[in-house]
Parts: sequence; C-alpha cells; structure tokens
Amino acid sequence: MKVYSIALLPGDGIGPDVTAAAWQVLEAVARSADFKLQGTSLPWSCDHYLQTGAMMPDDGIETLHGFDAILLGAVGWPEKVPDAISLHGLLLPIRKSFQQYANIRPHRLLPGVEGPLRKAQFDILCIRENTEGEYSGAGGRVHQGTDNEVAIETAIFTRMGVERILRFAFEQARRRRGKLASVTKSNAQRHSMVFWDEVTRELAGEYPDVEVTSYHIDAMAARIVMAPESLDVVVASNLFGDVLTDLGAAIQGGLGFAASANINPGRDAPSMFEPVHGSAPDIAHLGIANPIAAIWSASMMLDHLGETAAAARIMTALEAVTSRGIGTVPGKNKTDEITKAVLAALD
Ligand code: IPM
Ligand code: MN
Repeated sequence: MKVYSIALLPGDGIGPDVTAAAWQVLEAVARSADFKLQGTSLPWSCDHYLQTGAMMPDDGIETLHGFDAILLGAVGWPEKVPDAISLHGLLLPIRKSFQQYANIRPHRLLPGVEGPLRKAQFDILCIRENTEGEYSGAGGRVHQGTDNEVAIETAIFTRMGVERILRFAFEQARRRRGKLASVTKSNAQRHSMVFWDEVTRELAGEYPDVEVTSYHIDAMAARIVMAPESLDVVVASNLFGDVLTDLGAAIQGGLGFAASANINPGRDAPSMFEPVHGSAPDIAHLGIANPIAAIWSASMMLDHLGETAAAARIMTALEAVTSRGIGTVPGKNKTDEITKAVLAALD
C-alpha cells in the first residue's frame, strides 16, 4: 500500500482551524482507499518566531524536502510579528526553494453559493507565477529616515521563469476549454511586460490548438467582474496573479472558497497546498472559519499525488454539502458543522 508523508503546517490565525478540518477529511478518505496518509505537524508560525527568533528552524527547508507534500493553513499575525518578517521567513522561501513555480487557483461557484455577481456562471483557472517577478526580493533601502531616503524593489523576469509558467498555462488550457488569457501591463511597463508578451507569442506557435489573448491587468480586473464566463485559463506574474486571485476569490463567494496549489511541476521537491490567504487573526480559534477552501486544497493535493479518485470524492462531497446550503453564507455554519457535513457526505 502506498504511504504518503504529509507535512502539516497549520501556521497562524485560522490556519490551525481549517487545516484540522482538511486533515479530518483526508483521513476519512484514506480510510476507505488503497493508500495511507502519514501526517507530521510542524509548529512553525509567528508564535514559533516569538519563542525561537525564527519562523522555522535553520534546517526547515531540508526537513520539508523529505515529505511528499505540504498542507499549509495560513501565515501571518501582524500584531505579533510584522508580515514582512513572517512571510519571508516561511511561506515565500518554501515556494521559492522548492521551485513551486505554478500557483494554481480555481475560481468557480460551488453549487448553492451565490457570490456577489448573482447567478453568473464561470470556471476560471488562474495560474500565477510563484517564484520571481515582483516577489523576487531584489532591492534595498538607503538613507533611511532622511529626506533622501530611497527604496528600490526590482521585479525580475527571466526567460526560464516566464517560459516555464507560460508553457504550464498553455498545457492547462489544452486540457480544459482551449482558451488562455495572458495578463501583463506592457503598455506601461515596457521591459519586463513586453518581454512576457513576446514569449507568449513565441509559445503560441507551439500550441495552435490554444486560443491565446493578451490582456492588460486593468482590463482583466474589469473582465473578471463583467464577463467572467468569457475566461478559461488566466496566467499572470506573481503580483498580478496575487491581486487577480483575490478578485477571483471574491466573485466565487469569498476567501473561504478559494483553494490553491503551489506546484513544482518537475516533482523534484514537494508541492504545497493552501487556501488563498489571509490568516484572519480576528476570527482565529472562534470555530467559525470556513474550511471549504482548505478542504478543496486538500483535494488538489490528492490529485497531484495521483489519487484522482479520492480527490474527486472530496469534491463531490463538498458540492453535495454546499448544494444543501451548508457553508454557503459567511457566518451561517461553524467550522465543525461544515466539516461534519463533508465527512457525512463522503459516505
Ligand atoms: C497569497 C498571499 C501571499 C502572497 C501573502 C500572504 C504573502 O496573499 O498567497 O495570495 O502574496 O502570495
Ligand atoms: Mn494574496
């Protein structure tokens, strides 16, 4: 029997609440499948930082490398640790070290969820570049606190980085409805974004079966609200993808429904699965966080591990639950209630 070792990183805020829910569902699915899941919980978080001076131990990345996959809750509790420290101490180094360059975020309405657009039907797969671009971390500050202060944050786009994410997106489009929207801002950013558009055109020749259109980020933001049904796969740089996927989350009913997978397509390091942030410290431990995004992310994890039937079983159960109106309206059902309903629907 196959045994998958899973690193559990509940993290901060509502992270522990929703990770526990997702893990219960995963264990239930594994019980009646022909694979086992072995979970190891790691306490790396802002509290860990306050106790040890670091978000994770020095050999944290090495430790995580030994796992088949990582299930993450959320990172960040700004009242305890500044976000710029906590995120650069845990979430972002994992994405970069493990070359999880494809951040996949599905945006569609689960049955029974209305969303703010009222009855709009859409099924968007956002593919966000996850290792470079505006998140490269290159830059610095000089003359701090003086009138001459300068802050520089340089976006870095490499041919390898841009080509591999676009290729990944073309492949996804080919497997779906054959439409790809590539998002830049090449009318204003004339170096990196013009480069991205060029690589998009170059690759388009290799995928004659995919209909590719380039959009500017501002127009895409409007399109996601006005005509989401016109979109299939959307690919964007790290920061643009970050912003667009919060918008995607909003039209699908909120962050409680927004799942994501940080994929290392080369499979030479573990991939990481997490609900789209934040950590919502204001409702941490109240038992009211929506676990649906975390459970959906867990399904994406099984899918990545090759357990497609078990992954589909989770999605069927989730959809059965939401179509009965459970977990569809913020605050209506407790975390536990929703989790129990999903567990029951699995049978
Ligand atoms: C996300 C989050 C993170 C990001 C933050 C917490 C650094 O917003 O996963 O979308 O910007 O990538
Ligand atoms: Mn975000």
